[in-house]
Amino acid sequence: MERLVFCLGAAALLRLLLKWSWRAWCGFRVHVLSRFLQVDLRTYGRWAVVTGATSGIGRAYANELARRGMDIVLISRSAEKLRQVAGDIESRFGRKTRVIQTDFTEGPSIYAAIEGGLQGLDIGILVNNVGMNYSELLSRFLDIPSPEQKITQVINCNIMSVTQMTRLVLPRMIERRKGLVINISSEAGSQPQPMLAMYSATKIFVTYFSRCLDAEYRLRGITVQCVAPFMVFTNMTRHLGVNPLAKRAPEFAWEALNTVGHATFTSGCMSHALQNLALSIFFPDWLRLSSFCMKHMEDYAQRVRQQGKEALDSSTYKEE
Ligand SMILES: NC(=O)c1ccc[n+]([C@@H]2O[C@H](COP(=O)([O-])OP(=O)(O)OC[C@H]3O[C@@H](n4cnc5c(N)ncnc54)[C@H](OP(=O)(O)O)[C@@H]3O)[C@@H](O)[C@H]2O)c1
Repeated sequence: MERLVFCLGAAALLRLLLKWSWRAWCGFRVHVLSRFLQVDLRTYGRWAVVTGATSGIGRAYANELARRGMDIVLISRSAEKLRQVAGDIESRFGRKTRVIQTDFTEGPSIYAAIEGGLQGLDIGILVNNVGMNYSELLSRFLDIPSPEQKITQVINCNIMSVTQMTRLVLPRMIERRKGLVINISSEAGSQPQPMLAMYSATKIFVTYFSRCLDAEYRLRGITVQCVAPFMVFTNMTRHLGVNPLAKRAPEFAWEALNTVGHATFTSGCMSHALQNLALSIFFPDWLRLSSFCMKHMEDYAQRVRQQGKEALDSSTYKEE
């Protein structure tokens, strides 16, 4: 009997050791080795399409892709910002650009015009980056400002854009048997996140959609990568102020693009991968979703709401 207990204990310990060794090796490969073994992104095709490309993570991806030799199609709402970012990419990196002005909250009607704008381009990479939260601060579902409108806008912007943009570019990629789709999800989608319920739910959609699509089309030469970051310092998070755990967007995009070819699901950078690990150990779902935690989250939200208002008034996010 004692021998049996000993064997079972040893087997459990060995299993744990193997699991953690495997995780450590994967982390090392994806976040350290990948820096020295970068995939040449131009092998996917000449053009990269980036949604939400005039600010934050999208702009950083557009710059980094151009720096690595891609021509860029920039898609966002503001014509002026699009012109400015396109001019910047052309002068800094000597790459071609094309801009498409659209508002992704409008729903299915916009995609015919986008398809027209992409006509005739050899698109190797699509970055589905555009996304929005419904409130700048944490709030319960029914406290969303103008909920009727916001529900549709968030679903159109965070879910519809990813699926429709993929529908537009994937067929040509499959014909050429090569292509890369990068979908920006969020850590808030890796685990259920109360006080961000709808945002969190739209992001788990992006995660599952990406992982299923990667399995469906891998054998046809397509890679679908899902990137689920923690906090990146952008317009979306400017009200949270300077945070040592937040990453600067250009550094994030550089690290995240290095992981292409090494991981199809990633936090994007080493510091976010470590935060993900720490959170899964010390803050599991059962604790995060408990009434005890909700109470503390509400108090915290109240404080952030107060500080956030002040921070929002005083903070001006500046693109790097
Ligand atoms: N920042 C973070 O900490 C963080 C963490 C995890 C995941 N994410 C995800 O990363 C993605 C980018 O976030 P971000 O922080 O970089 O956001 P951001 O700084 O607010 O930038 C959003 C970009 O999307 C464009 N955009 C916004 N709404 C649009 C719309 N309705 N139609 C067309 N374009 C629109 C904006 O340009 P215009 O205003 O000119 O249209 C801008 O270029 C999102 O999917 C977000 O969920 C962010």
